[in-house]
Amino acid sequence: MHAAAIVAAAGSGSRLGADRPKALVPLAGRPLVCWAVDGLLAGGVTDVVVTVPPAERDAFAAALPAGVRLVDGGATRTASVRAGLAAAGPDADAVLVHDAARPLTPPDVVARVLAALATGARAVVPVLPVVDTTVVVDDDGVVADAVPRARLRRVQTPQGFDRATLVAAYAALDDAAELTDDAAVVRAAGIPVSTVPGDERAAKVTVPHDLTLAELQVAR
Ligand code: C5P
Repeated sequence: MHAAAIVAAAGSGSRLGADRPKALVPLAGRPLVCWAVDGLLAGGVTDVVVTVPPAERDAFAAALPAGVRLVDGGATRTASVRAGLAAAGPDADAVLVHDAARPLTPPDVVARVLAALATGARAVVPVLPVVDTTVVVDDDGVVADAVPRARLRRVQTPQGFDRATLVAAYAALDDAAELTDDAAVVRAAGIPVSTVPGDERAAKVTVPHDLTLAELQVAR
């Protein structure tokens, strides 16, 4: 199986409060996007496309290895992945879509996603259980309902797809649609999405505390 990956890295990362796009923020001295690409390559991906903020293309090119291709991202994550998909080689039979914001995703997670695709899944996501009590609140922040958590899962990346399935699902999606992940695009096209175990170390860096935790993780 030939697996290509799209790394969504075109976000601003305003919640991190950094002076540069989140994907270029250093973790132990290396930009987050470099860690994310390393994990994909170590897990079995052979071809990587990174979607970047157009104004920062040179900075990404300087940070990433020569074989990594860059494409301009869009205004939303959905638009960025759509652009990456157009560039992710037609010779690949599997495509993984990953967030640069998950820099320490263990290669084992990547390998589990690829293994599920190799055994016939058309779409697969890494997931973790929900450990906190989970509730629904009303407009005033008052608890309106509690959600049984046994069947709830938190969804991580990389998410893996049969390439033709993902291309068809994006083609069928409204141009203006904004979905938070790619499994939602495929589900909107009626394709079942399988799961494999995720990993807490694949946590997303969103706010400054997440970066502190990631620094501790690599210092161990
Ligand atoms: O904002 P959030 O952390 O959910 O973004 C997830 C990933 O999507 C990040 O790695 C970010 O760089 C990427 N993204 C993108 N294009 C956008 C917005 C976000 O590639 N327009």
